[in-house]
Amino acid sequence: MEVIRGIRQMQEKALTVRAAGRSIALVPTMGFLHEGHLELMRVGRRLCDVLVISIFVNPTQFGPSEDFDQYPRDEEGDLQKARDVGPEGFQSVVHVERVTQGLCGTSRPGHFDGVTTVVAKLFNIVGPDVAVFGQKDYQQLTAISRMVTDLNMPVKIVGVPTVREPDGLAMSSRNKYLDQEERASALSLKKSLDLAERMLAEGETDAGVVRQAVESLILEHPHTRIDYVTLCDPVSLEEVTRLGEETLLALAVHVGRTRLIDNRVIRKGTPGPPEGEGAS
Ligand code: PAJ
Repeated sequence: MEVIRGIRQMQEKALTVRAAGRSIALVPTMGFLHEGHLELMRVGRRLCDVLVISIFVNPTQFGPSEDFDQYPRDEEGDLQKARDVGPEGFQSVVHVERVTQGLCGTSRPGHFDGVTTVVAKLFNIVGPDVAVFGQKDYQQLTAISRMVTDLNMPVKIVGVPTVREPDGLAMSSRNKYLDQEERASALSLKKSLDLAERMLAEGETDAGVVRQAVESLILEHPHTRIDYVTLCDPVSLEEVTRLGEETLLALAVHVGRTRLIDNRVIRKGTPGPPEGEGAS
């Protein structure tokens, strides 16, 4: 394994790799790696000759009152490096329009501009053939896919199903903020996905009814506050009133002071389908 710290060095390395006819997979992360990140890395390694993983706690995707300062980091001081990267006078933004409007885009204004801009920069620095992202951040994956299509970026985007703890909680760097009671309440997200899937399997197609049931289930758990419970089209991310063949249920819930997200594409006629064939 080689550790590369400079942008120029990374660009030169990528040129050498490509000149030798070898392909590159990129896995962008904000560090504090968990099993979900590692799964993305395994997929990247399978798909290409060389795997590049980036670790950068990207300040531009955090809002003013969010957890940029508390975001878990390793001892090597991700924070200092993050601040060093932006050149003076930076004034360019990659902005994806409609799919970034609802869901997390509503409660985290500017977040997706930060994400798509830094990911575009990473693509320019590394020049990967493939870039691997988690379906846990479904809207992020959708926005990045849109950006790549719209701007003709020569990279294939691969989505990987959410990796979970044995009890079903989606792995996240932010899970470490949860105390014991909150950890129990955090399970309400995964239980909500199961409940909605069961309701659809039993014939319920009214999105309002499903949303209400999910909201009640979440609020039965202590320390929870709902940011959003949204049933939407898995491609456009536009809200639906009726559940169709495929519907995305996306959730964001504050548990104590920690904001957690989860989602699942639920399908008619196939109770308990494997996760995984969402946006990519
Ligand atoms: P981060 O939260 O570190 O996540 C890095 C990648 O890991 C993302 O593609 C995310 O979807 C994926 N991931 C996180 N938890 C996962 C899980 N439980 N199962 C599968 N994949 C999971 O997402 C970001 O960083 C940033 O926004 C980034 C894309 C790096 C841009 O700054």
